[in-house]
Amino acid sequence: MASSTAPGSPARRSFHLAGILLHYTTMKNSLTDKTAIITGGTRGIGRAIVERLLAEGVKVVLCGQSDESAQRACEELTARHAGRVFARKCDVSQPDEVHALVHFAEQKLGRIDILVNNAGVGMFAPVEQLTPAQWHRMIDLNLSGVYYCCHEVIPRMKAAGGGYIINISSLAGKNPFAGGAGYNASKFGLNGFTEAMMLDHRQDNIRVSYIMPGSVDTQFSHGSPAAWKIAPEDIAEVVVTLVALPQRTLVSRVEIRPLKPPK
Ligand SMILES: NC(=O)c1ccc[n+]([C@@H]2O[C@H](COP(=O)([O-])OP(=O)(O)OC[C@H]3O[C@@H](n4cnc5c(N)ncnc54)[C@H](OP(=O)(O)O)[C@@H]3O)[C@@H](O)[C@H]2O)c1
Repeated sequence: MASSTAPGSPARRSFHLAGILLHYTTMKNSLTDKTAIITGGTRGIGRAIVERLLAEGVKVVLCGQSDESAQRACEELTARHAGRVFARKCDVSQPDEVHALVHFAEQKLGRIDILVNNAGVGMFAPVEQLTPAQWHRMIDLNLSGVYYCCHEVIPRMKAAGGGYIINISSLAGKNPFAGGAGYNASKFGLNGFTEAMMLDHRQDNIRVSYIMPGSVDTQFSHGSPAAWKIAPEDIAEVVVTLVALPQRTLVSRVEIRPLKPPK
């Protein structure tokens, strides 16, 4: 009579499957009680990332560019996540404000396991019409702001034994388009910055990734809602997937686009 655990038997196969699942679950990084800073976490993609990380058990500090936006978001989230979400105004293009944000996060969270550099702006015009103020707004926030945050956080992550930094870039970081010179420059720069930083700090157990979305359904650049666009929650799903991968593995770059943009 054939044994129920003979090779190839249903019982042996399900035993084997359970073993693989157990192995995968034990190698996956648990996010419960991890800590994170999300810049531009008041709305749009950043807000979706905040909500998703909170749902995974992460404690979060978010910032917006005004006291009102930061406090409003914090109050809305506190109803469901009391004691696990904190907010503060921080204009990420200002190094002093970034310093204060990171200090605030350290006080509230104790340590910083995850940094998501999400805050960003886009202003679109041909170069002759793009004003110096618009140029600086994009470069100072989308590129220099990310540097300020990383520069503050990396020494703390190193001292704690590691961490994860995710930069929200754009497909505009590899695909130039007319009217996009300033935004393209900021995101092309961000991609190069991020890849070099990954090489600088991989041996410190700091994983660094960047995500390049196509059109996402947010108020970015006064965009209008459309069902064909990527949902902000889909970007949040990618963030959680990256962070939960086993420590030995790094997905350094993600391109994500709508399946069916208008023809
Ligand atoms: N939406 C897209 O189609 C798309 C596509 C590719 C990449 N991205 C990138 O995704 C990121 C988020 O975009 P989004 O669509 O979520 O934009 P959004 O809906 O306009 O939200 C922008 C967020 O950034 C914050 N912010 C703006 N200026 C800031 C500053 N100086 N300091 C700190 N926070 C600031 C805003 O805070 P307040 O509420 O205080 O204003 C808000 O939380 C950006 O880096 C963008 O380049 C977007």
